[in-house]
Amino acid sequence: MKAWALEKLGGLENLHLTDVAEPVCQSDEVVMEVLYSALNPADRYLAEGQYPARPPLPHILGRDGVGRITATGPDVTGWKVGDAALIIRGPVGVERAGTFAEKVAVPAGCLAALPMGWTLQQCAGASLVYLTAWQALTQWGNLAPSVVLVTGASGGVGVASVQLASAMGHTVVAFSRSAEKRRRLSEIGAGITLDPANTQWRKELLKLLAGKRVDLVVENIGGSQFSELLDVMAMWGKISVVGRLAGPVPQFNTASLFFRRLRIGGVAAGSFTPEDARAAWQEVLKVLAVHDNRPLIDMVFAFHELPKAFERLAAGPMGKVLLKVADK
Ligand SMILES: NC(=O)c1ccc[n+]([C@@H]2O[C@H](COP(=O)([O-])OP(=O)(O)OC[C@H]3O[C@@H](n4cnc5c(N)ncnc54)[C@H](OP(=O)(O)O)[C@@H]3O)[C@@H](O)[C@H]2O)c1
Repeated sequence: MKAWALEKLGGLENLHLTDVAEPVCQSDEVVMEVLYSALNPADRYLAEGQYPARPPLPHILGRDGVGRITATGPDVTGWKVGDAALIIRGPVGVERAGTFAEKVAVPAGCLAALPMGWTLQQCAGASLVYLTAWQALTQWGNLAPSVVLVTGASGGVGVASVQLASAMGHTVVAFSRSAEKRRRLSEIGAGITLDPANTQWRKELLKLLAGKRVDLVVENIGGSQFSELLDVMAMWGKISVVGRLAGPVPQFNTASLFFRRLRIGGVAAGSFTPEDARAAWQEVLKVLAVHDNRPLIDMVFAFHELPKAFERLAAGPMGKVLLKVADK
């Protein structure tokens, strides 16, 4: 079969479309023909050697995907050949071969049925980003209707966070550097949209919030913007740290955490057990159903165009960037 193999760590330039042996399923696994897979920034981090996982090389990246089952191990129950399924965050594409391939072996515990009425494309890239957004929004316990600020709101995790937070009854503040994407973020539930590159954004936000401040940040960006966020936080404010697309935070004064009792907590979708991930996924689907929200697809690339798809991801998508693996 054809697959994008990462020959060595160092960067995405080490990915090559090549022939590899077809996967074989272990007793509690299925083999799936991949129809669509989805890209995530963590694929690049893993290729660059910046991710903790060190899978055997050559490695096939790709954590998300939707496909059709072509074989099942003898201990698999509830799934049969011909069933369509999507992959929920687990070891696929991280510690073991992923979905940038015509076929992939998946532990049956990492599968979920396609949500009713969703297209294959909507199913392909949803689970990782919605589970991440869910953890970021709920890891502090139940939050009364609050002000939730989402940085990098146009990306995969960002769109998922805006949709979920809005359906959960929060006032959503969404950051994007693009005016067009800010317009679209308003359409999917953001009450306030701001350009983080505008040096006056803190002043503008506090004016718009008319006395309120930010209770929770879903933080995808890091870099120098991080310390600016602390200035608009409410008493007992929380920051769920998801990503760091703008790199490490240069510095901030820890004194800024004291007086408003601010809390900072990491998010790791990979820390969900398969059982917890499946349970959280069901909660996500219930919340999405409130406004009949669906995943947003930014662009779909042909299987041989993976490098171009990564360029699109790096440029800043609006929703998910997908790879169409099988031509059906
Ligand atoms: N902790 C976890 O479990 C977990 C899970 C999934 C993802 N992540 C991480 O979370 C982050 C977001 O992931 P994603 O899938 O949402 O990414 P994405 O789809 O690539 O989108 C991120 C958005 O952030 C903005 N952005 C990108 N680079 C930026 C920069 N240098 N400065 C300011 N804004 C920038 C862009 O929006 P505009 O162009 O509209 O401004 C872009 O659309 C990544 O770091 C990813 O690795 C972590």
